Amino acid sequence: MTNETSGNVDRRKFLNMAGTAAAMVPVAADSSAWAQTNSMIPTAVGASVQTNFTLNGRLERLNLDPRTTLLDAVREHLGLTGSKKGCDHGQCGACTVLVNGKRILSCLTLAAASAGADITTIEGLKSAEGKLHPVQQAFIDHDAFQCGYCTPGQIMSAVGCLAEGNADDDASIREFMSGNLCRCAAYPNIVEAVKQARDSQDS
Ligand code: FES
Ligand code: FES
Repeated sequence: MTNETSGNVDRRKFLNMAGTAAAMVPVAADSSAWAQTNSMIPTAVGASVQTNFTLNGRLERLNLDPRTTLLDAVREHLGLTGSKKGCDHGQCGACTVLVNGKRILSCLTLAAASAGADITTIEGLKSAEGKLHPVQQAFIDHDAFQCGYCTPGQIMSAVGCLAEGNADDDASIREFMSGNLCRCAAYPNIVEAVKQARDSQDS
């Protein structure tokens, strides 16, 4: 798995903090004193927080439950359903998006942790004139999908992989794309597509 969560607070850390806080609540203690001494613990669970970020070149302002993942913010609150929820546990890569140019798993990233970031999803990859990104075109040229469910994540991950310079050969591509699973096993064609996109960058 090569993808990473962004920021210092990912969903697991956040939920662990909230769980720790719940476990520490004294049964009959002075709750106001407890709240004062634990003001850093996220007590606003369930309350909304304003979150601003740029999505595909457009500034978005959302009021979200602080537990909302970036994936849910994009899909459920902004209606961009290209990014897929395969596992919601950081295991399949279907939710991969770019945050400040780096690929991340949006199901493991809190939307609030992406405040101020520049986010790109599959919907924002084509040019302003509507021309497909070279990676998108390469996936079509090489039939690098069957059902297509994993494809948006594969393409976003391939864009990140190329930007990282981790596509020198087949083995590197397989290694650095290994966080993106394809249940249709289109892997050989995906490798060929990434190579075409890489070579089109070089030419
Ligand atoms: Fe995010 Fe599977 S949905 S890794
Ligand atoms: Fe079906 Fe990848 S094309 S899961």
